[in-house]
Amino acid sequence: MCGIIGYIGMQEAYPIVIKGLKRLEYRGYDSAGIALYDNDDIQLYKTKGKVAELENLVSETTVSGSIGLGHTRWATHGVPNDVNSHPHFSNSGDLVIIHNGIIENYAPLKEELTKRGYVFHSDTDTEVLVNLIEDVKKSNNISLFEALPIALNQCVGAYAIAVFDRTNPEEVIVAKLGSPLAIGVGAYEKEFFIASDASPFIEYTNNAIYLEDGELASIKLGQGVEIVKITDGQNVDPYVQKLQLNLEQIEKGGFDHFMLKEIYEQPNAILDTYRGRLLPDEGIVKMAGVDDHIERFTKAKRIIIVACGTSWHAGLVAEYIFEEFARIPVEVEYASEFRYRNPIIDKDDIVIAISQSGETADTMAALKLAKEKGAFLFGVCNVVGSSISRITDAGAYTHAGPEIGVASTKAFTTQIVVLSLIALRIAKEKGSMGHKDYHYLLHEMEQIPSKVKIALEENDKIKEIAQAYKDAANFLYLGRGFNFPVALEGALKLKEISYIHAEGYPAAEMKHGPIALVDEQMPVVVIATRKGHYEKVVSNIQELKSRKGKIIGIVPKGDVQVKQIADHVIEIPETLEPFTPLLSTISLQLLSYHIAVLLEKNVDQPRNLAKSVTVE
Ligand code: AGP
Ligand code: GLU
Repeated sequence: MCGIIGYIGMQEAYPIVIKGLKRLEYRGYDSAGIALYDNDDIQLYKTKGKVAELENLVSETTVSGSIGLGHTRWATHGVPNDVNSHPHFSNSGDLVIIHNGIIENYAPLKEELTKRGYVFHSDTDTEVLVNLIEDVKKSNNISLFEALPIALNQCVGAYAIAVFDRTNPEEVIVAKLGSPLAIGVGAYEKEFFIASDASPFIEYTNNAIYLEDGELASIKLGQGVEIVKITDGQNVDPYVQKLQLNLEQIEKGGFDHFMLKEIYEQPNAILDTYRGRLLPDEGIVKMAGVDDHIERFTKAKRIIIVACGTSWHAGLVAEYIFEEFARIPVEVEYASEFRYRNPIIDKDDIVIAISQSGETADTMAALKLAKEKGAFLFGVCNVVGSSISRITDAGAYTHAGPEIGVASTKAFTTQIVVLSLIALRIAKEKGSMGHKDYHYLLHEMEQIPSKVKIALEENDKIKEIAQAYKDAANFLYLGRGFNFPVALEGALKLKEISYIHAEGYPAAEMKHGPIALVDEQMPVVVIATRKGHYEKVVSNIQELKSRKGKIIGIVPKGDVQVKQIADHVIEIPETLEPFTPLLSTISLQLLSYHIAVLLEKNVDQPRNLAKSVTVE
């Protein structure tokens, strides 16, 4: 994971890099560091902990320099401590590097370099890389630009790196394989920014070059960007993209946390995701990525969904939706498992990858495997221009806007929306659903954003419930049908941000084991929607009550039965069963949010996590 940032220009680099690091902190926050070139030498500051700690460290001294490289780390090799923090120097002190990714063959490289006299101070793979580059450079007596491809061609793994050489201080060189890297091109090409995503430089420029895998770029102060392929040195024309992002989208806008802002953004995020696609009065769903390949979809024998974490839960909801609407068999796979199996993939299969970031390493690898086996690849991503959106044959964006909170919220609901739209588009073409039902679904879908708003009105009540259960050691989440994956997602959300152990189960599965856990200490969140086998869920609640479990029911407005037996209820508006996950999820997001806030946890940046998992 990790966030990398760089500035090469005429301004003071320090404030730009620090502000940029704060925006990238969602990617990792084990340590932070900065290297500044002050026209004489490289000043290096790094420390375990967050960017705020780096600021404290630096505030005791005066810093200056108009070339700066910064890093916020999610440790893969070596514990999070000061020494393992980036940037890392080469042995001579000439080169300094920041790195996002993993050099998988670092061990043999380290052994070889040690034999050649190199000394290592950290446990990171990154320090091996910077010394490998130095070794290639010195032993061939060549420039950094010439040495980098030779060194990188010896590496196995993933990287986005930026390297600075104090013996040639007019230039920073960046390279990418697997991990993301964008170059912001400032006014008159006089200044350049380097970053893992565009958020650190959006207030300075909306011109960006996204490096492709296998590319290396030399960025020269006041001059320009020269891109070559790492494998053969072939020149690549830089393609400068105009970005749509604005500053407001990446700031908190009056909310205490990004997560809460993003929970409350869901009505609009869903509307934005519908825009131009959901046309109930005309009875159509327009999705360019599906329309262009409609025959593939209607003839598909099977859809395989690959994803991780919350996106995998959206995939599980989609399984129910595709089977219900479009009558296509669906398999939902953890990308990390799928990629290491020998999966049977037919050329008539469609592989759909779901990913907020569009950068998740396991999901990317699963797609590459499916591509080799000839499948048609479709991406459901939130980040425009991300790696997954580029590797897939077609796709549909979720238009949720930037999601900064590490715990995914609006990405999840908009993923379900996109997948529902796709299923409806196919259903219409295949005729797998009655005309009346189809139209009814389209009109009901249109109502979802206003129903999400109503679900959000339960916030104060949810906060009270959170207060009552914040000290519980465990939670159970139960749901059936479309809401079984929501139970999994509710449990994940709670685990992620409050560190309370939680498990999600299909409600009926409870009696096959988990019920043994239930006693008066156990809060059980049960989703009981009207058409979701309601009576059976009520019986499950009775069984839990008999074991003294504390029941928090998520129920349709006006429900009486669950209200009578549950300890608490949270109401959601009535809707058609396939769309209930879009409402029940809201209650569970708020519940975990409030519990975590009451426990004084870092809601936006939970421990050990990072937003985009670009390592295996
Ligand atoms: C969600 O709350 C998580 N932090 C995590 O599970 C996430 O959903 C997962 O890493 C997948 O990310 P992606 O959607 O960017 O691929
Ligand atoms: N492998 C490097 C480290 O452990 C970078 C980690 C990352 O990108 O997550 O420091």
